[in-house]
Amino acid sequence: MSGLGKTFGGLNAVDDVSFAVESGQIVALIGPNGAGKTTTFNLLTGFLRPDRGSVHLGGEDITGRAPHTLAAKGMVRSFQTAKMFPTMTVVEIVTTAGLLHAPPARARKRAREVLERLEMSAKADTSAQELSLPDRQMVELAKCLATEPKLVLLDEIMGGLNRAECDVPMRAIEQMRDSGITFLLVEHVMPIVMSLADKLVVLDFGRKAAEGTPREIADNPEVQRSYLGQAM
Ligand SMILES: Nc1ncnc2c1ncn2[C@@H]1O[C@H](COP(=O)(O)OP(=O)(O)OP(=O)(O)O)[C@@H](O)[C@H]1O
Ligand SMILES: [Mg+2]
Repeated sequence: MSGLGKTFGGLNAVDDVSFAVESGQIVALIGPNGAGKTTTFNLLTGFLRPDRGSVHLGGEDITGRAPHTLAAKGMVRSFQTAKMFPTMTVVEIVTTAGLLHAPPARARKRAREVLERLEMSAKADTSAQELSLPDRQMVELAKCLATEPKLVLLDEIMGGLNRAECDVPMRAIEQMRDSGITFLLVEHVMPIVMSLADKLVVLDFGRKAAEGTPREIADNPEVQRSYLGQAM
C-alpha cells in the first residue's frame, strides 16, 4: 500500500501509510486503540474506499476493488466484531466460506479439516448463537482458511484467548505461512506478535510510527514510550 489515507469528518484515521507485505511472511500491524488498524484493513480489503493512496496485490492495482472480487483473488479477512448467521452451525458457516473455490462436497470436507486443525471439531455442530466470543473468533479464522487463501488479514482473533489457548491458532498460522500463505495480523498481545511476526508495522494516530523486525521494534525507544510500555 502506498500513501494510503482515509478521513472521517476532520479525523485522519489513516494518514499517508505505506508498507509492503511480502509474500510468505507474517506481518503484524500494531498500535494503540484507535490508531487506524481496522480502518487500514477496511481500505485494503475494499470495505472502505481510500481517499488517498493505492493498494497493489501481486503487482496489480486493486485500489477500491470490491471485497468479493478480492476474496476471489485469494485475499480474505476476519472481522474484529464477528457477525454470523445465528442459526447456522459452525461447520455450515465454514463450509459456506469454502464454496468460494470449491463445490459443496469438497467445501464440506475442507471445513471439517480446518476445524480439526483448529481443535474446533467438538463444536462443529454448535449453532453460532451459542458460541463464546473467543470461539467466534476461531470461526472467523476457520472461515478464512477454508477459502484456500493466498493472503489473510486477521483482526484480533486471539483477543479473548488465554496464552495457552493461543497455541492452536498460532501453530495453524505458522504452518500456513510455511506452506506459502501470507498473513497480515492485528493483535494486542505482544508476546504473541513478537513470536509470530516476521515484520512489525506500528501505527499511531493513523500514521506509520515505525517498521522493522520484532527485535528492532522492541528496541525502538519511541515505540516503547508510545505503545509497548502500556501493552507489556
Ligand atoms: N466509520 C467510521 N466513522 C467515523 N470514524 C471512524 C470510523 N471507523 C473508525 N473511525 C475512527 O477512526 C479511528 C481509527 O479507528 P480504527 O477502528 O481503525 O482503530 P483501531 O486501531 O482498529 O483500534 P482498536 O485497537 O480499538 O480496534 C478511531 O478514532 C475511530 O473512532
Ligand atoms: Mg480495530
